[in-house]
Amino acid sequence: MEKIISLCKRRGFIYQGSEIYGGLAGTWDYGPLGVALKNNIQNLWWKRFVLDREDMYGMDAAILMNQNVWKASGHVAGFADPLVECPKCHMRFRADHIEDVDGVKHCPTDKTILGAPRMFNMMLKTNVGALEDDSSISYLRPETAQGMFVNFKNVLDSFHPKLPFGMAQIGKAFRNEIAPRDFIFRVRELEQMEIEYFVKPENWDGSFEEFRKEMWNYTKDVGLPQEMVHELEVADGDRAHYSKRTIDFEFDFPFGKSELYGLAYRTDFDLKSHTTGSTVDLSYFDEESKTRFLPHCIEPSFGVGRTMLAVLSSAYTEDELGGETRAYLKLSPKVAPVLVAVFPLLKNKPELVGKAREVYTNLKKELGRVVFDDNGNIGKRYRRQDEIGTPFCVTIDFDTLGEKPELLDTVTVRDRDTGEQKRLSLKELTSYLRDALI
Ligand code: GLY
Repeated sequence: MEKIISLCKRRGFIYQGSEIYGGLAGTWDYGPLGVALKNNIQNLWWKRFVLDREDMYGMDAAILMNQNVWKASGHVAGFADPLVECPKCHMRFRADHIEDVDGVKHCPTDKTILGAPRMFNMMLKTNVGALEDDSSISYLRPETAQGMFVNFKNVLDSFHPKLPFGMAQIGKAFRNEIAPRDFIFRVRELEQMEIEYFVKPENWDGSFEEFRKEMWNYTKDVGLPQEMVHELEVADGDRAHYSKRTIDFEFDFPFGKSELYGLAYRTDFDLKSHTTGSTVDLSYFDEESKTRFLPHCIEPSFGVGRTMLAVLSSAYTEDELGGETRAYLKLSPKVAPVLVAVFPLLKNKPELVGKAREVYTNLKKELGRVVFDDNGNIGKRYRRQDEIGTPFCVTIDFDTLGEKPELLDTVTVRDRDTGEQKRLSLKELTSYLRDALI
């Protein structure tokens, strides 16, 4: 994990939040390559679950919501973790993260016996407007889901969809974690990709199975090794308050197997709670059976940061190339921030730079994620591109310009994973790269 964190910082993927002020625990800032990787992960999700379907309605709801949303949803009363405090050093821990020894829990720092757990609500509270009283309380949303439930009727009224249909949203959520840890795994500010899929109550299990398969397909889209993903049927008593069935998708992270995604059967819990809480009727009228009822809901929920960490940690590879140890990211081209890097062999030869810029401009038009790099020597450039997971590097040298006439208008194309180089003509370059990458 240390190596991944260090690579992410060095190469501009992820920085500690507020770093120059000593940081803010549980927050991370995405740098230029982190944003590029994150956008690719989100675009693949949006494509699979929204663009490629006819039954999904995209949303982008406000983060701040009326406090009554969170009363109705059960989060004010129940979105809490058990907290234990050390009476000596006053450090606070999540009780379920500390093992019992002979029926008691000890402080991991000074071994003092910890007190009894109390429930700690994880919602981040704020006040909206000039008055700081109970009426102005709001929360930074702890899940994007509620932004969709409260807009259920709006989507019904605007689009008149027939069941089954879903609403999908990508956005920030906030949780005041007692102990943020494991880099971007457990954080206080996170990003979710969530679907609330509404079904006739008797059809819930068919849709649950459909999304179970689609979630596996998405893990393939982002290039996760399938043997590192595992399903866990969450037991009665361990599920969230709204769920009648949950499958966790777990991943073999560097620190152990932990939750990556969740698939929950939320029944009509949320639409019922908001009908009661708001007194607005959120039922659906089924034209076929001429009946009115509350649809049930299947919720596939994905963490963007957790996907990033799974992608980065499974792609991180060390090997030996040309007698030297190297570290590189074996990223799928579908998510790699850069697909192709174009170099002039030497930086100070205008004729090489000019030709390299021409090749770069043409490739960028075709493939988009293409960069030009003339910093440092060629070996350093290869190492830098390997470290950020760029599948191909293209080098323009004197032979490209015709020093050896038979090699005029040819370039070398280097493969990230094998380090092998091929000589290709400029005419075939784009189609070769397109075939290999897309
Ligand atoms: N909406 C489910 C979750 O945030 O875990």
